[in-house]
Amino acid sequence: MLSSPTGYTECLREWEDFEKNYQQIQDSHRLYKQKLEEVTKLQASCSSAIARQRKKLKELTASLKGCKDNHPMAKFNPEYVDAIAEMEDSIKDRADAFSEMEAFLPKKNGLYLALVLGNVNVILLNKQSKFAYKDEYEKFKLVFTVLLFVFSFTCRFVFSSRVLDAMFNFLLVWYYCTLTIRESVLISNGSRIKGWWVFHHYVSTFQSGVMLTWPDGALYQMFRNQFLTYCLYQSFIQFLQYYYQSGCLYRLRALGEKHNMDITVEGFQSWMWRGLTFLLPFLFFGHFLQLYNSITLFQMVQLPECKEWQVVMCGCSYMVLFMGNVLTTLGVVYQKYMNNQDKAKTL
Ligand code: COA
Repeated sequence: MLSSPTGYTECLREWEDFEKNYQQIQDSHRLYKQKLEEVTKLQASCSSAIARQRKKLKELTASLKGCKDNHPMAKFNPEYVDAIAEMEDSIKDRADAFSEMEAFLPKKNGLYLALVLGNVNVILLNKQSKFAYKDEYEKFKLVFTVLLFVFSFTCRFVFSSRVLDAMFNFLLVWYYCTLTIRESVLISNGSRIKGWWVFHHYVSTFQSGVMLTWPDGALYQMFRNQFLTYCLYQSFIQFLQYYYQSGCLYRLRALGEKHNMDITVEGFQSWMWRGLTFLLPFLFFGHFLQLYNSITLFQMVQLPECKEWQVVMCGCSYMVLFMGNVLTTLGVVYQKYMNNQDKAKTL
């Protein structure tokens, strides 16, 4: 209110302070925009320098191969053989270094993200934001794990309703779709999630979609309880997985050196091994439940009353999930075991 002169003087002083502050904000924002432009230019020059070096490395690799195949000196002289092997190792290291650099540079989205999000930049520019995004992804999975557990428990033991089942399956379709998008963003940001786990979620989306369209009937009712029990077990596994994966994430963050494990991360490795060996029996039991579901569905296909295409589709998708999960989990364990052996040798 400007009713009294003191009030007016105070307002004037406040306005002047406000103006001064506003000037400072304008200056900071101008500086911010200038730095942003500089960052954009630096990003473009780094990206093109990396692309050029990659091309040259590719050419050099081809020339080295040619040298090894055609030049007798390169084949028999140990000095040449060692020099070439050293160069090849460095080329491999360089390619890894470029990939790590690219995780902090904007790049074009892959086909899936381009289709879903359009060509928006999804690269997070610092490690903290990447960790925060990954952390949020794990928490998102945890919240939905609890929700899906409650939902499947209700469908399995409280209400037997096709409408409720449809809502449950619709939620699953949405959940798996969201996971595939989030995982594609994580991969663009340098996460090493294996392609199979993302594909696993595409297959799960498809499978939940098929379950959603499966009409109520004798065959649906025959499989319903087995399916819901499997969903309950899967939620339980996901809860264990959350504990393991977020434990890895927090320990890696504490070490502050993701992807570059050396002797100082010994404590982390022993925690990881303990976690993994605890998790593995539960995981394999889950994989075998997928095989069991698949076999049950294939047996149902043989029945004369089986008319629904959903039975064979679900059977096939469970079989694909079972095979992919078992092979990938075994691959991950073998890879971790070999890494552990290599680390032990360097000690
Ligand atoms: N879904 C999403 N991300 C996964 C993943 C999965 N199933 N498995 C691994 N990752 C991520 C990790 O978080 C890590 O991410 P980061 O690079 O951003 O840190 C990256 O992939 C590399 O992980 P990796 O070191 O290969 O494996 P891990 O030790 O984190 O996990 C397993 C190994 C086997 C425990 C894990 O892959 C797993 O739980 N698989 C089973 C999933 C499954 O079968 N679900 C269905 C149950 S019936």
